Amino acid sequence: MSTALRPIPLSSPYLDERDEELVLEVLRSGRLSLGPSIDRFEELFAERVGAPYAAAVSSGTAGLHLLCRIAGLQEGDEAITSPFSFVASANCAIYEGATPVFADIDPRTLNLDPAAVEAKVTERTKAVIAVDIFGYPCDLGPLREICERHGLALIQDACEALGAEYRGAPVGSQGPSAVFAFYPNKQLTTGEGGIVTTHSEEEWTLLKSLRNQGRADGGGWLEHARLGYNYRIDDIRAALGIGQLEKLDLILGLRAAAAARYGELLAGVDGLEVPLADDSDHVRSWFVYVVTLARGTDRERVIAELEREGIATSRYLPSIHLQAYMRERYGFSEGLCPVSEEISQRTLALPFFARLEAENQERVADALRAAIA
Ligand SMILES: Cc1ncc(COP(=O)(O)O)c(C=O)c1O
Repeated sequence: MSTALRPIPLSSPYLDERDEELVLEVLRSGRLSLGPSIDRFEELFAERVGAPYAAAVSSGTAGLHLLCRIAGLQEGDEAITSPFSFVASANCAIYEGATPVFADIDPRTLNLDPAAVEAKVTERTKAVIAVDIFGYPCDLGPLREICERHGLALIQDACEALGAEYRGAPVGSQGPSAVFAFYPNKQLTTGEGGIVTTHSEEEWTLLKSLRNQGRADGGGWLEHARLGYNYRIDDIRAALGIGQLEKLDLILGLRAAAAARYGELLAGVDGLEVPLADDSDHVRSWFVYVVTLARGTDRERVIAELEREGIATSRYLPSIHLQAYMRERYGFSEGLCPVSEEISQRTLALPFFARLEAENQERVADALRAAIA
């Protein structure tokens, strides 16, 4: 790294004094868990995405697991999902004993290809876990139609997609039940945390019981109606979530502006493709900025050259079925999902966050252009 250059991180949360104030208020109240901030966060979140109910949980993974549990996944069942995702969208089915089945992705959207999903349906299929990867909404219409026709549960992993819109409505507002995640690189952060939106009051009640060790509404602290988990969020995190929600439009606007700036800086650069543009059915919420390098580019060399300039990057995303534990447990190997596998070799996430300065984006673009020339 040249000594004069300040490092540019991959991501950075957008936090301000209002967040500090809300968190301090909770600390001073002494109500650190099971308090009113959680209800308030859930109400505000549900309102924001246009869903009738929301249940906050300790992570996006926890939310996905609870939806797999509620879908009744069990040993012998199959759950179809995307190989081009973060591992949690497949792991959640494995936690319940089901087998993950990977359907290939659409090379444009990088989301599940509905025709590939249809081709993987068997008598054992019980659920489809659809991911909105990189904040680009998945093809919910065709996926929903397939699930209805085959009697499958549809779970939406919207962990990366808070603020995205599908067919003119926010992700989360149209059903199916969706999970959003709040790790610090996400559009909204609570440190760790997640939330499940649902359109069913019964499911909402069940989610709140399952996250709270199976306690039932109105029951005692040591009375457990069912096997549950400790997947609770706490009031400290919920308060931070409220602060983040209050400025979500600002954060999303800044992220969209940073993405547009990269788009301009990288337009027409030979040797890479910028992320897919929105269309009338799909409006992305900018989670990461991932470019696709031309076939044959030495990605490792590009990464090393950017690193020398103090620029962090990441290989978003390896195909899940080729992870060591997946190969060992299920015998998956190369060739199962060729589109995903090929894209996995060529994608590169660039530094991306709300407060990313224009001059640093220019540095990234210059370094990237030089590295692929
Ligand atoms: C697509 C996807 N699914 C699931 C998760 C899991 O969320 P968490 O890290 O909050 O458990 C994430 C976030 O990391 C994600 O990006």
